[in-house]
Amino acid sequence: MTSAIRTSGGAQHASILGVGVYRPSRIVTNAEICEHIDSSDEWIRTRSGIVSRRWATPEETVASMSVAAGGKALASAGIQADQVDCVLVSTVSHFSQTPAIATTIASEIGTDGAAAMDISAACAGFCYGVELAQSMVRGGSATYVLVIGVERLSDLTDLKDRSTAFLFGDGAGAVVVGPSEEPGIGPVVWGSDGGAADLIRQKAPWDDALSSGEYPYLVMQGNPVFRWASYAMAKVAEEALERAGVSIADLDAFIPHQANMRITDAMVKALKLPSHVAIARDIAEQGNTSAASIPLAMERMLAAGEVKSGDTALIIGFGAGLVYAAQVIRVP
Ligand code: UT7
Repeated sequence: MTSAIRTSGGAQHASILGVGVYRPSRIVTNAEICEHIDSSDEWIRTRSGIVSRRWATPEETVASMSVAAGGKALASAGIQADQVDCVLVSTVSHFSQTPAIATTIASEIGTDGAAAMDISAACAGFCYGVELAQSMVRGGSATYVLVIGVERLSDLTDLKDRSTAFLFGDGAGAVVVGPSEEPGIGPVVWGSDGGAADLIRQKAPWDDALSSGEYPYLVMQGNPVFRWASYAMAKVAEEALERAGVSIADLDAFIPHQANMRITDAMVKALKLPSHVAIARDIAEQGNTSAASIPLAMERMLAAGEVKSGDTALIIGFGAGLVYAAQVIRVP
């Protein structure tokens, strides 16, 4: 005998309800970076927009930074930890593959045994997490999802590699995604190009590293990545606006992955963003923090009064694998 399988119905709409961040305590200046590579403060500022970055101390782990950021996001959303049904953690710099660090974070933050998993989508990881979370909320598999982007890229940075040593930073940013009266997260435009996976990658897989003794630092062909990000990603951003039915005139803020200030500038120009659109520029003091960069930048803009709750923002992440994802959101 066959009986119909019941399906779960979710909320009609989902939104980002709160944001929280953790910025590591140690500020690393360009002068300190230049102790290891042949470069200058001026070159780094001009080519990347980075003035300083933050690197985690040994105590500031992927888990501890995530718990701190996640706790603030819950407080900002007015949600208790035991209301969280799922914890999604986007990271490429947690070195233990199993169990997922999301499980530890879900426990330490005080969820009631929430589902938990890690996402590996590099610098698009936060936008991937937001899309998965809103699909869960609208599909009925979760009411509240905690999405965390967290990195300790300093652990994967070769201090002697002048093409990357100045670029990366550490930190965590978290949001709570849950049901809402009005739509708060537009359709995602996302994808990948594994054919170009060589452009940013670990120098060697961990198993090779074990046998060869060569540490698997991040290596990058910066210029092709720069060109791809500056031009192809503007089209992805335009498509996200179009799919959300939001015109550039109605946009309040642009919060791209903080890869390089010049990439942000090139996208602003290609999108012809008018001067009323607030532009995220967190990279100046935070460096490129991959999956953490968008929530970190959003929080700084809120704290500085550059955006306010309810504003319409375009977010876009892009990076290794050549993964990308963009969507229009309401700022929490
Ligand atoms: O997070 C997502 C993925 N990552 C990104 O989106 C990052 C994308 N790429 C970039 O941000 C840029 O490519 C970098 C900031 C990494 C490099 O900037 P660039 O303008 O692409 O520089 P380049 O690699 O084309 O090098 C230009 C020049 C070269 O010298 P010559 O050949 O013109 O004489 C390099 O040797 O700059 C030189 N150079 C440096 N000089 C001083 C390269 N690195 C350095 C350095 N200090 N650290």
